[in-house]
Amino acid sequence: MTGDKVLVRTAQRYRAFVDEAAEESPTYSTLAAAVAQDRDILRFLVGLPEAKRQPNLLLAAVRFLGGVPADGAELHDRVLAGADLLRDTMLARATQTNEPAGCAALLPALAVLDGPLALVEVGASAGLCLYPDRYSYEFDGQPVGPRQPVHLRCSTSGGVPVPSRLPEVVARIGIDLNPLDVTDSDDLAWLRALVWPGPAEAGRLQRLDTAAAVAVQEPPTMLAGDLVERLPDALDLVPDGATPVVLHTAVLPYVPEPHRSTFVERVRSLPVRWIAQESAGMVPGTGRTHAGGWSPSFVLSLDGRPLAHTAPHGGRVEWLAGR
Ligand SMILES: C[S@@+](CC[C@H](N)C(=O)[O-])C[C@H]1O[C@@H](n2cnc3c(N)ncnc32)[C@H](O)[C@@H]1O
Repeated sequence: MTGDKVLVRTAQRYRAFVDEAAEESPTYSTLAAAVAQDRDILRFLVGLPEAKRQPNLLLAAVRFLGGVPADGAELHDRVLAGADLLRDTMLARATQTNEPAGCAALLPALAVLDGPLALVEVGASAGLCLYPDRYSYEFDGQPVGPRQPVHLRCSTSGGVPVPSRLPEVVARIGIDLNPLDVTDSDDLAWLRALVWPGPAEAGRLQRLDTAAAVAVQEPPTMLAGDLVERLPDALDLVPDGATPVVLHTAVLPYVPEPHRSTFVERVRSLPVRWIAQESAGMVPGTGRTHAGGWSPSFVLSLDGRPLAHTAPHGGRVEWLAGR
């Protein structure tokens, strides 16, 4: 592909992000629109490997290094003035947003499993979704669990079987290509930089910080590496008498085919329970796959069987008829 075509393709990627971010982050939407018209920033991006040109990564790295730019002109100046450090940051870091609120969507599926549970989360980032029993919940105002600093509110429809109690979790094991460590100030700063500026930002940052404090008290066991390759090592760590539960949320769009199918087949072949909260179509039988892999609603599934549509960050669960 010629240099100009790559530039045009990159601009299109940022233009698509303008709509994607419009509701959650008008600021990022505006900045992405500016990037799409800024040939200097586009040239900077084209100098990076294709996978590193993502809007989310650029904007998080800029924020990590010096806060959210006020407008496209400030973004332009900062990208040009700090290009080397920005490039190094984008090459070293990845989009690893960790959203503990996803636990509210996972809870109805966890509640039907016989415990105690050994959670094995693949694509765990910093492992903040490994603490569903350490958070408290409110489903349409109905509390579940004793009140905790991380308190997750969730609206429901379709007759969600809201659990009356929390699961018993006896092991928290995470696998990630690049596990983040919330006791490392740079990693925590990176997780904070990944949160989009906007109406939900303050709540998300507060939740991230309080969930990180939970993980500091009771650190997860994190294994570095690929989700297929490290799964046997993770399952070896499951204590006797515990039910192994492989779970994942917002991971499979990052796993290209045919590796994604290999993972799905591997999990299906194992004596484990399997909970996914993923974009439609990522788990076979959970709907049509969307362009780019990401769907506006996620699908909660148990052992490959779809149970509910959920908000990607877990604040809404719509139970499917007959489940
Ligand atoms: C968007 S984050 C989601 C983190 C967490 N599941 C959540 O929802 O809060 C996706 C994570 O998947 C990890 N990941 C992507 N491909 C992977 C692979 N092949 N094996 C292990 N982890 C992977 C990334 O490093 C990243 O931390």
